[in-house]
Amino acid sequence: MYILRNIIIVATGASLASALDFVEYGNKAFDAIKRNLPDIDIIKPRQLALCPAVWTQVATELSTTFLNTTDLLCNDDARAAIRAAFHDCASWNTSVTGGCDGSLILAPEELTRSENNGLQDIGPKLLALTKKYQAIDSSVTAADMIQFASSVAIVTCPLGPRVQTFVGRTDSSTANVEGLLPDVNAPSADLITLFANKGIDAAELIALIGAHSSSKQFHVDETQAGAPQDDTPGEWDVDFYADTSSKPAGVFVFASDASLAADPQTSATFQSFVGAQAKWNGAFTPAMTKLSLLGIAGGSTGMIDCTAAVPLPRLVPRSLVQRQPIMDRA
Ligand code: HEM
Ligand SMILES: *[C@@H]1O[C@H](CO)[C@@H](O)[C@H](O)[C@H]1NC(C)=O
Ligand SMILES: *[C@@H]1O[C@H](CO)[C@@H](O)[C@H](O)[C@H]1NC(C)=O
Repeated sequence: MYILRNIIIVATGASLASALDFVEYGNKAFDAIKRNLPDIDIIKPRQLALCPAVWTQVATELSTTFLNTTDLLCNDDARAAIRAAFHDCASWNTSVTGGCDGSLILAPEELTRSENNGLQDIGPKLLALTKKYQAIDSSVTAADMIQFASSVAIVTCPLGPRVQTFVGRTDSSTANVEGLLPDVNAPSADLITLFANKGIDAAELIALIGAHSSSKQFHVDETQAGAPQDDTPGEWDVDFYADTSSKPAGVFVFASDASLAADPQTSATFQSFVGAQAKWNGAFTPAMTKLSLLGIAGGSTGMIDCTAAVPLPRLVPRSLVQRQPIMDRA
């Protein structure tokens, strides 16, 4: 569906770069640019600085790593990489240092914390990739590898959008502050405050937790290890938003997601994504880019936009696209 729209826009003569910006990132980035809001430092248009060629090589390797070639869905490593990007950045708030600094995989103490349970397999894999590609281009950092891998993982899931992706983060092997990641049993009000203290508002939080559309749990209830959070794990669809309330058999709903779905402050936003793939992608992508910049002074200022090195959204089976609401398809 995105591919089709890109082709249409490119055919009208707009540059490929701007076509992608406006299709993939939604109106928020565009509005921020037009109105010159503070967001402009965080979600800004493509720059002229060239993305180092090494990231194209990284993308090729990761696309293979994250795809299950049997069912054509994104796999366990993809899910874990998306969550790793969240955990490296979000162990931060506006009064501490750290954030997206690679410490999740560079500081052994951080990766082994219980709040990072489930990431202990992907951590060493991302670290090995960092070292492999650092030997080719010394500008590669672990912090960038984590965020870039998440973007490739998302786009490898059927229906996954291309998230605007920057490189240029500085690594740190000092563990981030513990206890700043959300607890699955925390009430919605606490979760909203926790994210507000990271600069992420309630609407952005609701868009971001849609990542659970692709996820499985292994540690909340170990007797149900592998239980998914919607009926189609490995697809980047919006079933999560419906399934959190309807709880189909086999779906393991997190208490945190149920609480946010029911909270009067967030329930309307939550419901607005039910059956609305394009709307969700439009809200998710700028929020994910913002998440990928937490703790970095100046946001994306001085960083290089490597979105073009992230593969294009995959063509997905017709049966899957046809399940989407008609207005959302084209
Ligand atoms: C209220 C906020 C959130 C809470 C309480 C939460 C909690 C959790 C928990 C408990 C798991 C299962 C881990 C396991 O048992 O192995 C999980 C998995 C996951 N989460 Fe979240 N999460 C939140 C927000 C997010 C955000 C913002 C993202 C990304 C943008 C995200 C992406 C994922 C992914 C992709 C998985 C699957 C990991 C895998 O299958 O290995 N989550 N989350
Ligand atoms: C790939 O998908 C098939 C079919 O769903 C599944 O049986 C297999 O375990 C998956 N392989 C990996 C490596 O995840
Ligand atoms: C940030 O986290 C630290 C450590 O938990 C805490 O002391 C501080 O109050 C938090 N600041 C904000 C703005 O939430």
